[in-house]
Amino acid sequence: MKIAVYGASGYQGKLVLAELARRDIDMRLVGRNATRLLEAATTVGTAAGAGAAQQRVADTDDHDALVAAFRGCDAVINCAGPFTSSGPAVVRAAIAAGCHYVDTAGEQLYTKAVFDTFTGDAQRAGVTVVPAANDGCAPGDLIAHLLAERVRSIEEISVSHFVTGGGGFSRGSLRSAVETIDAIKAGGLSYDDGGWRSGTPARHTTVTLPDAPRPTDVVKCPLSEVVTIPRHIPVRHVESHVDAAVAAQLDAPLTPGIIDSLPEGPTEADRRTQRFTYLIDAVSRDGQSIRGVVRGHDTYGITAVIAVEAARRLAADGAEPGVLAPAQAFDPTSFLTFLAPHGISWTITVSDTPTT
Ligand SMILES: NC(=O)c1ccc[n+]([C@@H]2O[C@H](COP(=O)([O-])OP(=O)(O)OC[C@H]3O[C@@H](n4cnc5c(N)ncnc54)[C@H](OP(=O)(O)O)[C@@H]3O)[C@@H](O)[C@H]2O)c1
Repeated sequence: MKIAVYGASGYQGKLVLAELARRDIDMRLVGRNATRLLEAATTVGTAAGAGAAQQRVADTDDHDALVAAFRGCDAVINCAGPFTSSGPAVVRAAIAAGCHYVDTAGEQLYTKAVFDTFTGDAQRAGVTVVPAANDGCAPGDLIAHLLAERVRSIEEISVSHFVTGGGGFSRGSLRSAVETIDAIKAGGLSYDDGGWRSGTPARHTTVTLPDAPRPTDVVKCPLSEVVTIPRHIPVRHVESHVDAAVAAQLDAPLTPGIIDSLPEGPTEADRRTQRFTYLIDAVSRDGQSIRGVVRGHDTYGITAVIAVEAARRLAADGAEPGVLAPAQAFDPTSFLTFLAPHGISWTITVSDTPTT
């Protein structure tokens, strides 16, 4: 099995390379700059004991070069953000090269565009595309599927992300936030009665974390779970939130110069101090509440684990061709169980009273 990593020279890309090396999976490093690719190969070679990895240079505006760079690989992991501008070219080339595709994107409108644009092409090519295979969307989408198996007729699902510690965002995450700032400020898409809409006011402005004495303020935020969950769960309304205190970090003006002056991303020590809690709250039509809780640490490290395992499963086991949500491509219990030794824990609680 051979997996290509596009954007291999970035912060997330190098974590993916290290994870591929740890799992002894053959890799091909692909990106737009030969020098930075070589640096990434050297870093991973030194840090993780990987052998000489193949490298290919291909820019996103050269479709033929991208296809040639991916050809012969079983899957592509795309870590090159911002995805809104560069992602579609990479998906198109992966499909043309006959490779399965996953990415680490956290850009909600891009994730929706991948479903809208590439479903037919992927089906015809017999490959599977799973966007947003990251720390948030993958476990959130998988656990939402398990919630839906426990109750009949879900009216509403609300997804909320809380992160503490950890040294903040990588430069690449900040660049993605800047490129999509209008959608972030507007709260992104909600799913309502069969379609995705922008501008819908949030139904929730506070969420109570498990065992917390009081509710936490949240703001509506464009998470990719809003795009993926309604693809496999019949539900009337889906919206997503983040902790208002975390969202406020994006209120400060961010110029390319400021972002360039920051560290590439959190240090390993910072990543160890980070904790996240992702809540998936569902309410059934008869008023029953059911809550899924996903806990873990190190969002960037676990994203590497998830993206590699998703690509590996697609290459080894296959899935329906097309663009799929995580829960459509992978068995939810099996994938979540795989994540447990990597620090992911999850619970599902059913109650007769609302949890928020
Ligand atoms: N839960 C989540 O939402 C989540 C979790 C993890 C990561 N992510 C996303 O993953 C992405 C990567 O983050 P990062 O920290 O690794 O960023 P980074 O360090 O800035 O790396 C970005 C990579 O993409 C490449 N790249 C950027 N623009 C490109 C373009 N137009 N054409 C070709 N290559 C391009 C860069 O190549 P050069 O080296 O040549 O510049 C580099 O390899 C971000 O979008 C981040 O938001 C999301």
